[in-house]
Amino acid sequence: MHVRPLAPQLEVGVVGLGTWSVFDVGSDRQPLADEVVATMLAAGGRLLDSSPMYGSAERVLSAALGDRRDEAVVATKIWTSSVAEGRAQFAEHLELYRGRVEVEQVHNLVRWHQHLGWLEEEQAAGRIRALGATHYSPRAFGELAEVMRTGRIQMVQVPYNPGERECEADILPLAQELGLGVLGMRPLGSGSLGRGPGPEELAALGVQTWAEAVLVWDLSDPRITAVIPATSNAEHAAANARAGEHPGFSPEQRHRVEALWRARR
Ligand SMILES: NC(=O)c1ccc[n+]([C@@H]2O[C@H](COP(=O)([O-])OP(=O)(O)OC[C@H]3O[C@@H](n4cnc5c(N)ncnc54)[C@H](OP(=O)(O)O)[C@@H]3O)[C@@H](O)[C@H]2O)c1
Repeated sequence: MHVRPLAPQLEVGVVGLGTWSVFDVGSDRQPLADEVVATMLAAGGRLLDSSPMYGSAERVLSAALGDRRDEAVVATKIWTSSVAEGRAQFAEHLELYRGRVEVEQVHNLVRWHQHLGWLEEEQAAGRIRALGATHYSPRAFGELAEVMRTGRIQMVQVPYNPGERECEADILPLAQELGLGVLGMRPLGSGSLGRGPGPEELAALGVQTWAEAVLVWDLSDPRITAVIPATSNAEHAAANARAGEHPGFSPEQRHRVEALWRARR
């Protein structure tokens, strides 16, 4: 799988795994999560995104990693308006992910002014490799740009797929200018993938599935470091990982995928 730098000295496979909803499950579904994580790691994926907002997802992810924790780049989040609660969330991260977190993000920019100070102390102590900030709404991109310009974070996470391209206006150019990594959340449109084109059209694009075509579209913008499609299905995880081997679409192929996205059912 291709790799790109998410932060200084932190390269990741370009296709990771999101855990929102799909890993918020009971212990009866732990074996499915184990299979998805094992499939992703076997394909060269390293990046796993989670958050305290995602119910049991962090515990399920930690259990799925098991003895393979060292192979993973864990990108999780602090999601609270209270510093005390934020520190408690971080303490739980250290417990779940064996004493360190590769990427700690301020989820939805919640109280970022208050959280960045103590997070920087944890980073200086070596318990966090990179700091970041996320937001799902273009309405918050102005504030996200403000955090980026502070020089205190190394990466951001924003929505990116053929139907959500607002980050192209300001966030991606700013990330490029400042040398920040970018994670594409909702890379498959968060469940709105629909039915794509037939096998001939897919073969012409050099992919086997519609999901792969969409992920390759996302990754064909080199300012996107990696995407984090969520799945509860190991076959889907394998298909998604294949997108990380693709050389990328030409501008014409990209336009074709945009047309196919608009025409999907
Ligand atoms: N920071 C934030 O505010 C924020 C907000 C939203 C999301 N995120 C992060 O971004 C991650 C991804 O976003 P998302 O979960 O909203 O949406 P997504 O990854 O765009 O789409 C997930 C959906 O696509 C399906 N899927 C995955 N691979 C597939 C394949 N190969 N073929 C067909 N269907 C496939 C999944 O169903 P199956 O289980 O059936 O595969 C699931 O329903 C989240 O899990 C989370 O980690 C962050």
